[in-house]
Amino acid sequence: MMSIEITAQARKTLKLLGDPAAPLASPGLSRETVEELVEAAGWAPFHRPAYCAREQGVGVVEPWRFTMLDGPACRVLLSRLSEIPKPPGKIANMLAVADALLLVTWLPEPSDAGKWEASDFNMEHIAAGAAAIQTLLLAATARGIGNYWSSGGALGTQDAFSMLGIEESDVLLGAVFLFPEPPEDAEAAPGKMREKRSPSHAWARWAELG
Ligand SMILES: Cc1cc2nc3c(=O)[nH]c(=O)nc-3n(C[C@H](O)[C@H](O)[C@H](O)COP(=O)(O)O)c2cc1C
Repeated sequence: MMSIEITAQARKTLKLLGDPAAPLASPGLSRETVEELVEAAGWAPFHRPAYCAREQGVGVVEPWRFTMLDGPACRVLLSRLSEIPKPPGKIANMLAVADALLLVTWLPEPSDAGKWEASDFNMEHIAAGAAAIQTLLLAATARGIGNYWSSGGALGTQDAFSMLGIEESDVLLGAVFLFPEPPEDAEAAPGKMREKRSPSHAWARWAELG
């Protein structure tokens, strides 16, 4: 088992781009494996219960929700992308080869001012959801599963949500792609910021209290 520091460093964005006209036939990851990763994600810290559980007594307390697609479901989604008016861009290339996709949404507090507003509760819901995604990425990395946290583009629209049975009030925090071992001829792209990182002393300092 990799130490957490080694795993954190080994985690890196892998964007595997396939041909939407010739999607991979592989069965993808087993549902069991995907569920193990999601189980790990569920150990992320969270502070405020989701509004529905806190104030209405319905639903679960976690402020995040995961919608899981296995490999075959990724291919079905690929074939139905035309039902989502927003252009899919590279999402289509990734759905052609992904072993699984996890759409991670967070649950905003109800608001009269648009979908969600800046509030301490919302900030903490987003932070908790992000911690859950990072935990999942680390669990995938520890198992040697290539992964990519995407903003999700077209997958964050209401059209995609209604197709996938995601609550209208949710907000997409990440579309997490899990990929197979890249085939020889596959196009694989890294994260744009990977090589731009600063040493920790550039963004961390000891408080000086005199
Ligand atoms: C909230 C969030 C959203 C992201 N969305 C995208 C995205 O839409 N497209 C993309 O190319 N990378 C996206 N990334 C991945 C970053 O580009 C990547 O983490 C960064 O380049 C550093 O590379 P590394 O992950 O290999 O360390 C996202 C990362 C985070 C945390």
